[in-house]
Amino acid sequence: MVPSSSPTPTVEVTAADADQTEINTVDLPLVHRPRRLRRTEGLRRMVRETVLTVDDLIYPMFVMEGIGQRHEVPSMPGCHRYSLDLLLVEIREVVGLGIGAIALFPLIPDPKKDNAGTESYNSAGLIPQAVRAIKQIFPQLLVITDVALDPYSSAGHDGIVQDGEILNDETVAVLVKQALAHAEAGADMVAPSDMMDGRIGAIRQALDAEGWINVGILAYSAKYASAYYGPFRDALESAPKFGDKKTYQMDAANAAEALKEVNLDIVEGADIVMVKPALAYLDIIHRIKQQTTLPVAAYNVSGEYAMVKAAAARGWIDEQTVMLETLTSIKRAGADVILTYFAKDAARILGG
Ligand code: PBG
Repeated sequence: MVPSSSPTPTVEVTAADADQTEINTVDLPLVHRPRRLRRTEGLRRMVRETVLTVDDLIYPMFVMEGIGQRHEVPSMPGCHRYSLDLLLVEIREVVGLGIGAIALFPLIPDPKKDNAGTESYNSAGLIPQAVRAIKQIFPQLLVITDVALDPYSSAGHDGIVQDGEILNDETVAVLVKQALAHAEAGADMVAPSDMMDGRIGAIRQALDAEGWINVGILAYSAKYASAYYGPFRDALESAPKFGDKKTYQMDAANAAEALKEVNLDIVEGADIVMVKPALAYLDIIHRIKQQTTLPVAAYNVSGEYAMVKAAAARGWIDEQTVMLETLTSIKRAGADVILTYFAKDAARILGG
């Protein structure tokens, strides 16, 4: 029996100590007591298997036309759409926090949208203009551009539409032009997020043919048709005008197919393969990491961010702790790189 209340003067009396409940002890013949390694923060740090750092993070950012524009995305508190002048101010802060890479997404005004996504390969368009300005001021910052038609598409789809269908090969031809416009503007990597068949190979070939051998491809390889993209589509006003994206993005029920997509993208020349979303697909991240020697990225998408923000705003969860636990889980599953709207918040805690 353990005496329940005999504190020495130097030990603080806790409520539990003061409690008179009798506690019985048993003799456990234990060789291993795993709790030994959890006893102090020093021990926990020493045996920690997964360590999140700011180097793991890519910050997705939204750019819009105009001057002096800064609008918070209602479903993504803390994330804004910026005109280029204010985007550059924001990037200064991002760089100051030690974040080494950003992923850029454009808000395109309706009059510039059409079925063929013509604006997507305008070499004087919003993204090429932004990339040029960013690389001029922050040459060390890695700038990754999204290659897809949806922000430029009058139908809100990732491809050209004909008779209600999304055309594959015709779309790939446009994506190639878009990737070339981004490369020419100075993008370090292009990130095709459209899920058309054969686009990685076509883009790699075109980049090489034009001399952009050092422009990398971050392939959205296993991108699922997910309801978690809702807030992002609010941000870019890019929700599909009809139907859904299930004829090109993957079915949430499939895992083997993700490995097939990854293998194809690797054969076609991807430098990094990505899984998206992250949290409902940690098993996919894990399986892909086991299968490939390429770096694996995961996209902690807008809906995952929104859920944490919404619950935290109600005081239902502790935002910082949940954020770090979430990002650590994505890394533990096998992600080498994480795209996350939490990048700034995480960097403030992790340090650069
Ligand atoms: C567009 C694209 C989407 C996202 C990244 N690129 C949306 C979609 O496919 O509808 C989603 C990102 C997020 O939800 O944070 N091709």
